[in-house]
Amino acid sequence: MAKRVVSSDKLNEDNTESTLRPISLSEYIGQSELKENLDIFMKAARMRDEALDHVLLYGPPGLGKTTMAYIIANEMGTNIKTTSGPAIEKSGDLAAVLSTLEPGDVLFIDEIHRIPRFVEEILYSAMEDFKLDIVVGTDASSRSISIDLPRFTLVGATTRAGDLTGPLRDRFGIVSRLNFYTHDELKDIVLRTSRVLDSPISEDAAYELAKRSRGTPRIANRLFKRVRDFALVEGKKEIDLDITDVALDKLKVDAFGLDSTDYSILEAIIDKFSGGPVGIDALASSIGEEASTIEDVYEPYLLQNGFLKRTSRGRMVTEKTYKYLKKKSQDTLF
Ligand SMILES: Nc1ncnc2c1ncn2[C@@H]1O[C@H](COP(=O)(O)OP(=O)(O)OP(=O)(O)O)[C@@H](O)[C@H]1O
Ligand SMILES: [Mg+2]
Repeated sequence: MAKRVVSSDKLNEDNTESTLRPISLSEYIGQSELKENLDIFMKAARMRDEALDHVLLYGPPGLGKTTMAYIIANEMGTNIKTTSGPAIEKSGDLAAVLSTLEPGDVLFIDEIHRIPRFVEEILYSAMEDFKLDIVVGTDASSRSISIDLPRFTLVGATTRAGDLTGPLRDRFGIVSRLNFYTHDELKDIVLRTSRVLDSPISEDAAYELAKRSRGTPRIANRLFKRVRDFALVEGKKEIDLDITDVALDKLKVDAFGLDSTDYSILEAIIDKFSGGPVGIDALASSIGEEASTIEDVYEPYLLQNGFLKRTSRGRMVTEKTYKYLKKKSQDTLF
């Protein structure tokens, strides 16, 4: 399936992400509650000369979880070691990372919900008692040893907090959900990106981009780069509202940031399932998408904006959806 320009998942074209990443808390736009709390916890940890408590960040892709992990290490003045759930297949993989940690280090585990259960147990004692309990040797000669670890901060990121086990979640002292950004916050992110990339954009164009970015900084930055290309080819020194509208229409990103996949989801519910409720699996197979992709990537934004409702019997569209897609709802037919 073609990669959508408004996909919140990381695409190849996002390879400049690291240059666009804010590196301090004060540069990080939005998520004010998280920032205020972290600011206090980090100050306190520094005053006590201790490692920060473990932090779990969860929320849809592209909202700034990885960015925040790097900021934490930077603000604490420590190193960051990074790995991800899928990279940890056996207990040895985790032990190898843990044994490289130095006092106060940040260990960032992306997609932490994908760590195998039996490896997770090693993480429990590492997080709680700063001990690495492993079994060495095989069969008869095997024995378990316990190695002391320095105090470190685990920063876990996940798009699916619901997939974490209770015991793992409970071991994080700071648990925070990242929310979609407001239009004003995204506008500030676009203006920042324009400064970093040294490519001017007008205020109203930045706001238009913000409105069409699904509350997601990654998408805002990507759309910015696409629109910048249009402006360049048109010989414009500054990205203005005209070229922004033209470019986004060409990219088939509508006024709400919805694209053709969002439309297929909403239209399928209306046309094939009479508006719902419909189970996620039936919906997924009717449009040829993975159920998990719909749940993680498309649905959160549609739910947040009232185009979709979740009920105990499945997903339903709303009055707003019928109006927006200019379709007649069942109720008004008769
Ligand atoms: N608060 C913010 N202020 C400015 N830019 C941001 C902010 N949050 C994210 N960004 C930008 O968005 C890009 C994507 O953010 P990031 O990689 O941290 O998302 P993520 O939540 O880790 O996504 P994923 O779930 O796919 O790993 C970053 O490169 C950064 O430029
Ligand atoms: Mg990330």
